[in-house]
Parts: sequence; C-alpha cells; structure tokens
Amino acid sequence: MDVLIHVFVGLHIVGIAALLGGFLTQMKAMGQGTARFVPAMLHGALTMLVTGVVLVGLNQAQDYSVDNIKIGVKLAVLVVILGLVYVKRDEERVEKPLFGLVGLLTLVNIFIAVLWT
Ligand code: HEM
Repeated sequence: MDVLIHVFVGLHIVGIAALLGGFLTQMKAMGQGTARFVPAMLHGALTMLVTGVVLVGLNQAQDYSVDNIKIGVKLAVLVVILGLVYVKRDEERVEKPLFGLVGLLTLVNIFIAVLWT
C-alpha cells in the first residue's frame, strides 16, 4: 500500500506540474493582458483534486494520520482555483489580476503542503 501512496504522491506532483507549468507558459501574455487558462491548467487542477482525495483515502486506510485542517485548507484553495479555471476556460483573454490570482493560489497551496507540518 505504501508504494501506491507514493505513486499517488507522484501523480499529485504531475498535477502541480500541469497547473503551475500551464500558468508559467502564460506569464508573458499575462503581462500584456492576453493570458488564457490553457487546458493543462484545468487538467492539472482536476488531477490535484482526484489524486488528493485518493491520497487522503489511502492514508486513512493505512491508519496514517492526516491533518484534516491542512487538507481542508488545501481543498478550499483548490476549489477556488478549479472554479475560476473551469468557468473561464473558453475565454480567450483573462484579466491580469484574475489570472495572477490562480498562479498565486497555486503557490500558496504548494507552500501549505510543504511548510504546514
Ligand atoms: C493546488 C492544489 C494542491 C497542491 C499544490 C498540493 C501540493 C502537494 C504537495 C507538494 C504534496 C507533497 C508534499 C507533502 O507530502 O507534504 C502534497 C501531498 C498531499 N496532498 Fe496535496 N496539493 C494540492 C491539493 C490537494 C487536495 C485538494 C488534497 C485533498 C483533497 C490534497 C491532499 C494531499 C495529501 C493527502 C498529501 C499527502 C499527505 C500529506 O503530506 O499531507 N492535496 N500536496
């Protein structure tokens, strides 16, 4: 089961790569106000949600402690990210503050994951 948990942490990181990587490809466009939410960002956010929920389940099945408050905060932040990216997925231009907010919230979740012990 531990191997499975590690596999899902790996997939969780693939999700971060898609979400953050998609954001980074749009940084120059964001400066010009022409950034858009690329499909990688939506798929990355969905991957984070699915793998995160599976990780909670696998950890609980093994009786490993899961910090429910930390996970709850990460889930709440991701719901905002996912909502924004989903609703605006077909818009060819997303305003700079809104686009920047998604990048910021992604970074916030990364640092919550690694600093909240
Ligand atoms: C943008 C959103 C997210 C980011 C950037 C993120 C980031 C990370 C990172 C970097 C790790 C590995 C480091 C570590 O083990 O501490 C991790 C682990 C984990 N994540 Fe996420 N995560 C996100 C969303 C979620 C969501 C929505 C859930 C659950 C519903 C979740 C559940 C977990 C669990 C259970 C682990 C392994 C156990 C732990 O250490 O807390 N994550 N996450």
